[in-house]
Amino acid sequence: MGAYREAYQRSVDDPEGFWRDAAGGIEWVEPPSRILDDSTAPIFRWFPGAGLNTCHNALDRHIRSGRGDQTALIHDSPVTGVTRRWSYRELRDDVAVFAGALRRLGVERGDRVIVYMAMVPEAVVAMLACARLGAVHSVVFGGFGARELAARIDDAQPRLVVASSCGIEGGKVVPYQPMLEAALAESAHVVDRCVILQRPEAPAELVPGRDLSWADAVRDAEPAECVPVAATDPLYLLYTSGTTGRPKGVVRDNGGHAVALRWSMEKIFGVRPGEVFWAASDVGWVVGHSYIVYGPLLAGATTILYEGKPVGTPDAGAFWRVIEEHRVSALFTAPTAIRAIRKEDPDGELLRGRDLNCLRTLFLAGERLDPGTYEWANDLLGVPVVDNWWQTETGWPIAASPRGLEELPTRAGSPSVPMPGYRVRVVGPDGADVPAGTEGAIVIGLPLPPGCLPSLWRDDERYVRSYLSAFPGAYLTGDGGRFDEDGYLYVLGRTDDVINVAGHRLSTGAMEEVLSAHPAVAECAVIGVGDLLKGQVPRGFVVLRAGADIAPATVEAELVARVRERIGAVAALRRVDVVAALPKTRSGKILRGSMRGIADGREEPVPATIENPDALEALRQVLRTPRSG
Ligand code: COA
Ligand code: AMP
Repeated sequence: MGAYREAYQRSVDDPEGFWRDAAGGIEWVEPPSRILDDSTAPIFRWFPGAGLNTCHNALDRHIRSGRGDQTALIHDSPVTGVTRRWSYRELRDDVAVFAGALRRLGVERGDRVIVYMAMVPEAVVAMLACARLGAVHSVVFGGFGARELAARIDDAQPRLVVASSCGIEGGKVVPYQPMLEAALAESAHVVDRCVILQRPEAPAELVPGRDLSWADAVRDAEPAECVPVAATDPLYLLYTSGTTGRPKGVVRDNGGHAVALRWSMEKIFGVRPGEVFWAASDVGWVVGHSYIVYGPLLAGATTILYEGKPVGTPDAGAFWRVIEEHRVSALFTAPTAIRAIRKEDPDGELLRGRDLNCLRTLFLAGERLDPGTYEWANDLLGVPVVDNWWQTETGWPIAASPRGLEELPTRAGSPSVPMPGYRVRVVGPDGADVPAGTEGAIVIGLPLPPGCLPSLWRDDERYVRSYLSAFPGAYLTGDGGRFDEDGYLYVLGRTDDVINVAGHRLSTGAMEEVLSAHPAVAECAVIGVGDLLKGQVPRGFVVLRAGADIAPATVEAELVARVRERIGAVAALRRVDVVAALPKTRSGKILRGSMRGIADGREEPVPATIENPDALEALRQVLRTPRSG
């Protein structure tokens, strides 16, 4: 039996033994004696009664074991022209001081702190400082607008917000203050204080009594030591798009997370202490949490925080420059980034002359990896391209080719095989497993392994309803797919209204809420349509209220602007069409599935239950018509 099969089998037959061993990779204040608490099933807790501090495991322990002078963090920022390094000791010192600053501002164990920042090192420092105090961070992606930020403030109820004054997106400076002010005005929860990192490109105007600058916050702050917390205490909340407009607060615990991430760095990503691991993502997404911040640091590796784009900062050779300059062993990014590079530099001209022999593996995740991109990257780089499939909820790969266990061959179109701990099944509508080759819903048998969400923030009921009730005993991933005869999994896409735009997970429901709030809109639908670069992009369709005295083109432009302002530029809703009617069933349900099928160019049969077949036909025409002008 190969090493992968052996590990997988053990994780299924003896999960407690498997994860007890993996827990040896972490330093505990109170080592785990019990491994799994199943007394509140279907909600499970890993390592009940154990105690630790995640920041200690990410920083202090490495200093004690002789890595104090090793580089922990490299901030490579082509948009500001700065590259800076922190050793483990320097990063620990900065984190301890900012933790002291937070404590002085009243942040204590269990308090929530919202972090709304660009890809600046202070974002990493703020996250680790919260972990040091046992406070709970909730990072909000800088590309989100006021409505999304307000929803997170209201749900997490933070004691304070840490923000940067602006982000730098390619060549443009995006001030964050207008979004922050609008969100604070809109949320019911009152935030006492804001700490603002003043960036010279666009400093914010501080509100007296409420705001203080990062520089003032840390001045004379007393460095804080690590506060021991329970393994089951939350480390962070990360909100993610669901099918409704209200984001879901995914909870990550301290113990299970540390154990699983440390294990995944070694066994899945094959990264050894001292090596350089680069996840070209954003700290606002789960990939950034797991594989920019916590994973590499828990593993004693060097991590890169890259403030730039795959193209345009300055060109499509930027990734190759970073790999060569920092001797990167493994790069992790989204397929869309590779597609963007390929589009600009199809023959890989910008790679020539670069010494990339340090690079062992390219990991791609966040959206479906199309075979064309997989082959192109494989040919160009000459290293294994490892597609891996997972979600904000799980925090680490559900399926991959585990490079540190066994170099299983990869296959185009498949993220390979289930990782240890995940009992992945493909089921039909009755919940029974379907045979290999047949498509169905992808579910995971409970309990989920350590590191996955134990629940949603203060909402067990929603957790059970959203994920655990469709198929009792199993977690519903929301993705559809199939296994092949050899046990390789193929993930074909979401079965719900979540869409994936340039590796960013977005809710069409949230966009629909914004569209329907416009006074001229009677009803609307937003669907994801295939896009060669971004994978998917949203498109909106609206029906105007009878008698609405406004030109369709005006409404369309206003709606695009509203989504950009409320949800954020990242939603990339660039086109809304006014239509006479939306296709509906006789019971009044909008036929989003049929709309999606038509948008993706499938020969969608007209459903038997349709009320207005003309509307479907009209939509077909609209989708075929490029916008003029
Ligand atoms: N703060 C403020 N605005 C942001 C932002 C941020 N952190 N991130 C994105 N935006 C803005 C962009 O500037 C852009 O604005 P525009 O409409 O004015 O041009 C808009 O949101 C859409 O951004 P994006 O989807 O990133 O498109 P793009 O055309 O700027 O770039 C790619 C396309 C493919 C280069 C880019 O999406 C990319 O690098 N993707 C990698 C995805 C990734 O890392 N995913 C994380 C999961 S692994
Ligand atoms: P997020 O929670 O933002 O990480 O998005 C998770 C969703 O992205 C999954 O449910 C999938 O729909 C999609 N996804 C992520 N990785 C992959 C992959 N490797 N292949 C196919 N889809 C993926």
